[in-house]
Amino acid sequence: MKALVLAGGSGTRLRPFSYSMPKQLIPIANEPVLGHVLRSVRDTGVTEVGLIVGTRRSEIEAVLGDGTRYGVRLTYLPQDAPLGLAHTVSVARDFLGDDDFVMYLGDNVLPDGVVDIAREFTASRPAAQVVVQKVADPRAFGVAELGPGGEVLRLVEKPREPRSDLALIGVYFFTPAVHEAVAAIRPSARGELEITDAIQWLVASGAEVRASAYEGYWKDTGNVEDVLACNRHLLDGVVARNDGEVDPDSVLVGAVRVEQGARVLRSRIEGPAIIGAGTVVADSEIGPYTAVGRGCVVVGSGLADSIALDRASITGVHGLKGSLIGRSAMVGTSGRGADHHRLVVGDHARVEVAA
Ligand code: G1P
Repeated sequence: MKALVLAGGSGTRLRPFSYSMPKQLIPIANEPVLGHVLRSVRDTGVTEVGLIVGTRRSEIEAVLGDGTRYGVRLTYLPQDAPLGLAHTVSVARDFLGDDDFVMYLGDNVLPDGVVDIAREFTASRPAAQVVVQKVADPRAFGVAELGPGGEVLRLVEKPREPRSDLALIGVYFFTPAVHEAVAAIRPSARGELEITDAIQWLVASGAEVRASAYEGYWKDTGNVEDVLACNRHLLDGVVARNDGEVDPDSVLVGAVRVEQGARVLRSRIEGPAIIGAGTVVADSEIGPYTAVGRGCVVVGSGLADSIALDRASITGVHGLKGSLIGRSAMVGTSGRGADHHRLVVGDHARVEVAA
């Protein structure tokens, strides 16, 4: 079996971050989303991975390389225009050959893994096997109607009046039967070739399509709130470990990981939390549920339930919470005696001060 991982999307809901980096590289618990995805793929035993990339290919390649670090072999597959999830299957046609494959959306995190579902698929090889989970509002997803034995009766992409609460959650298993379906469908109302429509085409043509319920934690990391929620969940798995330097005037409470070369001085860190490699934290309070990237500087500040990306600096600001702070961003005070706020804030950024 091979894997097709999709990282071509542009991520408008993650602006301003997606202006300067592909959304699939946003770090969650100090690991890019795509890193979590590739580990999940590798856990199913699949090592041949085709990675669909768009205009952000070079940045993704700079971080993931040939995939060795994640135990997989990556083949980069450029998609010229974002014409839909089903379109990526035809882009990958030569790479996939006549193998079965798992398609995995590159911004979906399923930390409890899909190993059992992969095994189910390999054992019975239906034309397609989708992964579903109950959601409160299915209208934002592909929705599956199932028969009593878990067989799929009907699939609809983002229905206005959903006939079930089972959403497709971004992982799909296919035999080569899907290629005929992809060739047969036409673009949807949003102008894309929908994978949901391709699978529905298989159902309508009488092919066997099955669904497996995923009971674990799942997050589509499409917006800031979801990124922070996913960060909280993954930080719950952090194990206390100190590879850096923590001075005697500092206190680490609970699961705190201090990475290589990081220094913690006169500070209190409450886990779960990660202090990234080479970061300096002084006279500050960090955590819980906070991931600080590499090469950051946090001085005289307080930060909880947040993510700071590499090389961010936070100086003299207390009470930061629920924040996502970009690479090399500077958060600080406007100087002694200043009676004003000074903001240099990029397009689509969001600043919320305590009222
Ligand atoms: C896509 C799929 C949808 C699926 C969702 C999962 O939606 O089209 O069927 O439920 O991913 O995250 P999109 O993110 O393109 O709106």
